[in-house]
Amino acid sequence: MDFLYSALVFLHMLGLAGIIAGFLMQLMTDNAKATKVLLHSSLLQFVSGLLLVGVAEMADLTDLNHVKIAVKLVIALAVVVVGVLNLRKPAKNLAVVAGVLAVVNIAVAVFW
Ligand code: HEM
Repeated sequence: MDFLYSALVFLHMLGLAGIIAGFLMQLMTDNAKATKVLLHSSLLQFVSGLLLVGVAEMADLTDLNHVKIAVKLVIALAVVVVGVLNLRKPAKNLAVVAGVLAVVNIAVAVFW
């Protein structure tokens, strides 16, 4: 279970890097794939986060702060929704919103 948890944290960190990469790609290069990078990474982040909670609870690995997790879940869902809107009709403003929300979620994860 420890290894599974570590593997999920690993994916969670890759998802985080992907969101920031997609946001910067769209902002700085107008690369057509930026919107997909952003959306797919936000989905990876969302799913890996949920699985992290599931594994932590099942194996009693850590004491999770459920209020913090709920806040992260809502923010991550907002990033996914903005990512979908941005895929349908790409706009730099949407990429900025997704990037800023992801950074807010990093702050919640680290400082709360
Ligand atoms: C944009 C979305 C997200 C970002 C940027 C993000 C960021 C992070 C970061 C930076 C960490 C490492 C923090 C540390 O170990 O101190 C982390 C850990 C974690 N995240 Fe997320 N996260 C996101 C979404 C989610 C979601 C949706 C969930 C669950 C519903 C979640 C659950 C967790 C859990 C369980 C950990 C393990 C460490 C802990 O806080 O005890 N995350 N996340």
